[in-house]
Amino acid sequence: MDYLEDLLSEQIPTSEETEKLGEISSAIIREINDICRANNINASCTEVGSVSKNTNLKSSDIDIFITFDKAYPVDYIEKKGLEIGHRVLKNGTEKYAEHPYVSGYVKGIKVDIVPAFKINNGEKIVSTVDRTPLHTLYVNSNTNEAMIHDIRLLKVFMKRINVYGSEIARSGFSGYLCELLIIHFKNFDRLMKHMANLRGKLIVPEDAEDKFAEPVIIIDPVDPSRNAGAAVSEENLSRLKLASKIYISGRLDILNHTPSVNRERGTHIRVFVIKKPDIIDDIIYPQAVRLKNRIWDILHNNGFMPVASEIYMGNDIEILIECKLEKLPGTKVHMGPPVESNESIRFIDMWNGNPRLMRGPYILKNRVYVDVRTEQRDMEGIIRKELRNSDIGKNLNEFRDEIKIINGEDADLEVVRKFFSKYLFN
Ligand code: UTP
Ligand code: MN
Repeated sequence: MDYLEDLLSEQIPTSEETEKLGEISSAIIREINDICRANNINASCTEVGSVSKNTNLKSSDIDIFITFDKAYPVDYIEKKGLEIGHRVLKNGTEKYAEHPYVSGYVKGIKVDIVPAFKINNGEKIVSTVDRTPLHTLYVNSNTNEAMIHDIRLLKVFMKRINVYGSEIARSGFSGYLCELLIIHFKNFDRLMKHMANLRGKLIVPEDAEDKFAEPVIIIDPVDPSRNAGAAVSEENLSRLKLASKIYISGRLDILNHTPSVNRERGTHIRVFVIKKPDIIDDIIYPQAVRLKNRIWDILHNNGFMPVASEIYMGNDIEILIECKLEKLPGTKVHMGPPVESNESIRFIDMWNGNPRLMRGPYILKNRVYVDVRTEQRDMEGIIRKELRNSDIGKNLNEFRDEIKIINGEDADLEVVRKFFSKYLFN
């Protein structure tokens, strides 16, 4: 049997599961509509997301929207949305996207109840989630059975090559993008052919104006001013291109390679572990990436010669950096002025008898130089000194002084496993 079809058959919801999802969402919708009617709230409730489009896989959630009349102020719909969400989802917790919303579990299924403004096709949106019900209408009126099958197949394929999901840490293809790709290319095979031969950006439709900077440009049919593909990273586009070549050439076995790893790299691996604040990953992740870049720059500027890095977010933030050096040499070259300049005598006087002088002054080409002692030679001391008093991210600063620095070669940490198991598709 076909490898992908096999994967899909494990992921496709059974008819019992589909029935259960339908019962849960109709009950919720009925309850919310009753609450709105009883309280004179001008809003109605609809199901959106993959379940409402039949494009869901087994693990998918139920997405319920309460769409309020546009005349209401934002504060009102946020307050009422949370109130209703908590009434319906007894153990719900509050999350934050465009508006705060309630997320909880009903009979083991995750349910999100999200407030939005009611928008008709072509009307101006107030917040980006307002488009979501229009996505459902668009997908439902532009797909048939065969396309639904191929959308699910594409989601399975995207999950297998680790490019599915619009969370910032993933920067992959959302469910809605999978739907748009199949609708545009008609079926999975034609999409694969297109991707396998694609050079440069993915632009859909192909003749759309290249007016967005991102590597993936997929015009949202319900709002042509928006790039629905803006969140996809260049690496994930590359993964999809390569995976499509692999698919087209009948070499899906490559996906199951287990590369052998040699850990004797002769380098120095350090892991910087910092507590993760209790805030959603989409907000923390960019700060974690900035912190990683900050540490990289400190190591680079001080001469540790960083060569590779990795980041992992679980309960903590783990930042791994591999360097050529773990300790700086005891001396470094310090360039002085050109001999011709009026500064050269001053430079020589300045270093005369200086206890930091290791050698010189001497002349190289047209300049005076000295070799000077490196005061701080160990990585940990330098990093701690440079991070102290510096802004490492709005939500990370409070944990700045508790950063742990761990020798990473064989530490029992996710980021170390991730680093050594790096492969084409992860
Ligand atoms: P979901 O993330 O739940 O996606 O967003 P989904 O399509 O239901 O897919 P799965 O099966 O759960 O993984 C629900 C809806 O919100 C809109 C889309 O219309 C989507 O169908 N949405 C979500 C976006 O427009 N952009 C996003 O980045 C995320
Ligand atoms: Mn969903």
